[in-house]
Amino acid sequence: MDHGETVKEKKSMARKWKAVIGCAVCWLLLTAQDRVGLPNDYRTTFTKIRVSDRTDSKTTAVIYANAAGAMVRPGDPGPYPYGSILIDENWSTVKDTNGNAVLESDGHYKLDKLLMIHVMRKEAGFGEGYGEHRSGEWEYVSFATDGKSYATPPERAAVSCAQCHREFATEKRDWVFGRYEKH
Ligand code: HEC
Repeated sequence: MDHGETVKEKKSMARKWKAVIGCAVCWLLLTAQDRVGLPNDYRTTFTKIRVSDRTDSKTTAVIYANAAGAMVRPGDPGPYPYGSILIDENWSTVKDTNGNAVLESDGHYKLDKLLMIHVMRKEAGFGEGYGEHRSGEWEYVSFATDGKSYATPPERAAVSCAQCHREFATEKRDWVFGRYEKH
């Protein structure tokens, strides 16, 4: 092997490695990057669109939407406009001595502690890093109650979030389970 060939070979190896590293960076950018975030002031600037008491787990989901997310009318299947952000606050509830959930005057479970804050956001091209788990153009992330550390980080969102919305909420509903209940 002459010197010229070795250089050529090295160059081609370098190109291959660049491609491999490039792909890995792409993958990381597409999956590990948080393009969803948590708007700090969502409780005051978003609309509370739904309160859902879950009889099986005796937890309550309080769902908020930004202006775009609240544009889908009650009962509408969507699709949701780009820029939609939906937030699902997961709460434990107060139980009586028999372990039954205590009700508020509005009939909903009495909230106890905030457990997690799930966020999903729709933007053009979102979800392309989720592969077979992709649910349309939504990306997901979940925060602990401090609103800063992750309960589910971006790189786990495909399997831990998108997958279930894909399978059970389905495209028919733009991968969103619960509709806005009233306007
Ligand atoms: C096992 C299935 C499942 C998984 C996994 C799941 N979800 Fe959901 N998600 C649901 C269901 C069911 C609802 C509706 C809950 C209700 O109304 O009580 C929901 C509701 C939501 C909502 C409110 C909008 C809507 O679809 O009604 C958001 C936001 C959300 N999920 C985000 C997430 C995030 C973020 C993750 C990952 C950390 C996640 N979800 C994982 C089933 C799932």
